[in-house]
Amino acid sequence: MAVIINREKNIFVLDSESRHYVIGVDKYGTVHNIHWGRKCPIEDYETPYSHDAGHNHRMKDCFREEYTGFGGTVYKESAIKAFFSDACRELDLKYKDFKAEYNSLEITLNDTYYPLEIVLKYELFDGFDIIRKSVTVKNLGEDKIIFEKLMSGEINLPDIKQYNIVNTIGNWGAEYGEVKTPLKGGSLVFESRRGTSGHSNSPNFIAYQNADEKSGDVFFANLVWSGSFKVEISRDVRGITRALLGINPIDFEYTLEGHSEFCAPEIIFGMTEGFGEMSRQLGDYGIKHHLPREFAKTPLPVLYNSWEATEFDVSTEGQTALAQKAAKAGCELFVMDDGWFGERKDDHAGLGDWYVNKEKFPNGIDELIGNVNSLGMDFGLWFEPEMVNPDSDLFRAHPDWAYHYDTRCAHEIRNQLVLNMTRNDVQEYIFERMDTLLSEHNIKYIKWDMNRSLSETGAQNLNNAKMLWLLHTKAVYDIVDRLRKNHPDVQFESCSSGGGRADWGALKHFDMVWTSDNTDSIDRIVIQKNYAMTRPVKTMRAWVTDINWYNRNAPLEFRFNIAMRGALSLGGNLKNYTDEEIEICRKNVELYKEIRPLVQFGSLYRLLDIDRDEVSADLYLDRDNNNGVLFIAAVNTRCMKEPEILRFDGLDDEKVYEFDFDSAHYEKSGAYLKNVGISLDVKKQYYNKIIQIKTK
Ligand code: DGJ
Repeated sequence: MAVIINREKNIFVLDSESRHYVIGVDKYGTVHNIHWGRKCPIEDYETPYSHDAGHNHRMKDCFREEYTGFGGTVYKESAIKAFFSDACRELDLKYKDFKAEYNSLEITLNDTYYPLEIVLKYELFDGFDIIRKSVTVKNLGEDKIIFEKLMSGEINLPDIKQYNIVNTIGNWGAEYGEVKTPLKGGSLVFESRRGTSGHSNSPNFIAYQNADEKSGDVFFANLVWSGSFKVEISRDVRGITRALLGINPIDFEYTLEGHSEFCAPEIIFGMTEGFGEMSRQLGDYGIKHHLPREFAKTPLPVLYNSWEATEFDVSTEGQTALAQKAAKAGCELFVMDDGWFGERKDDHAGLGDWYVNKEKFPNGIDELIGNVNSLGMDFGLWFEPEMVNPDSDLFRAHPDWAYHYDTRCAHEIRNQLVLNMTRNDVQEYIFERMDTLLSEHNIKYIKWDMNRSLSETGAQNLNNAKMLWLLHTKAVYDIVDRLRKNHPDVQFESCSSGGGRADWGALKHFDMVWTSDNTDSIDRIVIQKNYAMTRPVKTMRAWVTDINWYNRNAPLEFRFNIAMRGALSLGGNLKNYTDEEIEICRKNVELYKEIRPLVQFGSLYRLLDIDRDEVSADLYLDRDNNNGVLFIAAVNTRCMKEPEILRFDGLDDEKVYEFDFDSAHYEKSGAYLKNVGISLDVKKQYYNKIIQIKTK
């Protein structure tokens, strides 16, 4: 890993683990991407020749620029658009200079007239083909500059042949549905305009031509941002495919005052051989360089969450009864979900009143926390800090604290309004309430929920109200970071009606994500597969519950097989569980604790795919490829389905691995298991196996 510079040719090579990302500056000062792919001799790279010449058509739209400003003969989507105080709305950006260290490169562009500098920063990481890029705008003058668009990344793909683009479409309960689109020409847009990253699309993309799990060039990028976003990918007349990722420019502005600077959200992008390698690199990168440091390398506990069992009907007795069973099952953390505060009987009232409900907890919550602790578990609590019910003491005292326009009627969603998080008093109220509760009680975990999108986005407190899209999300990050600072032993989970805030921005501030409110184990196979495609497995909270939509009656063992592939949790009504069922839970939780390091910190190999093969088989290996655990599950297969050949991946050829499977004992080389494999006859409904593999 290194940054290699050829000063004569004005070429900068980002030399990652096995790829080169090469930037060159032409003689006009335009900064281009000139190669992204396998490594070549450095001396072979040539300074790009480019000139925005042409007769009827100028050329600049076809450059693979690293950061394109709006103005001049740029008609393609630009990365940045500025509005200067003299009303000029065009940029003219040229290369100024660079700064390099062994693992980072900063390229500075400046405007040819206005005192504006833009610093593009690229960082490399040992062992990865992942680059972290950030864009900082610096106003070196007195007058403010307004940015109407400030994207984080501009990524040009190397080939001129067509790429397939992958993003997701989703909804509540149906998160991360994969969409693959061949992009022949024109543009594809994936976005959120809701104030959060939301369920609909993901702030990322994957691009490939011919790739599968193990082979083929795969390009990908993730935006580190939990607010409204836009990912736009286009293919032009010359065949160049280009992606822009950033804060959604819809209704967005950023006012940069004189002598100040602003750094846009980062992007994390890379190129790997196959989708499997992409997921493994992102997972590993998340743990080593991205997740909040406090718990990044700590195994996440097996938690119990009360939501599906009790909903709003919480009390010391009811929760204690659940906690007793959860402890028997081996849970390590007991989480009381919604319903414990204010006048919260259902979702009509109470949000904002973060005081313990005295009717439900006449002796306070310390009694419950004490019970939970004496059962050997930590205690966690649910909040929805950004929200207020009109029926709450908070709203009655501060009706102006919710986003609103005096002339418009407020749209309630789930009977709630969104607090104006750009106000200092709102931020301080939320921080004070949460900080006090964390200080006064032995709470070790917070589930931060967010159950509606923004609307009536009036923020009269701001000079430029269009900054609220940015400031809302920043305020969330800021409060979480301040709480973390005061309470470094508390874990935070990001939740938004299930997985509506499951982005790499959230993953910088929260330790884990609530993946989906859909806890049906059959649906979960696909939901979890797609979550883990671009995010660390460790962060994927997965509950075993009693949900039984359409009377499918998936057996408990099957439900564990699916939930154990992430951060295992229990969420059923344990009070109704028989002793045998609690024993099944206990055994599986015990097994999970044994294999947890493999699942949460290992490398995931997707061997069989439920959609393609009717069977799902995921192998998690430790970093030395010595130990592994293989989860196999199928819901129903065709009676005449031929047995699958299960070929392992990731094993070392020369090592001998042993495991028991279907009453046979196997001792086979990695080479054999990878190339010959074992026969897998899956006929039984709700087939499920968990196989532990060790080197001999
Ligand atoms: C939505 C979440 O996704 C659920 O898990 C639960 O916490 C409810 N909100 C509580 O209102």
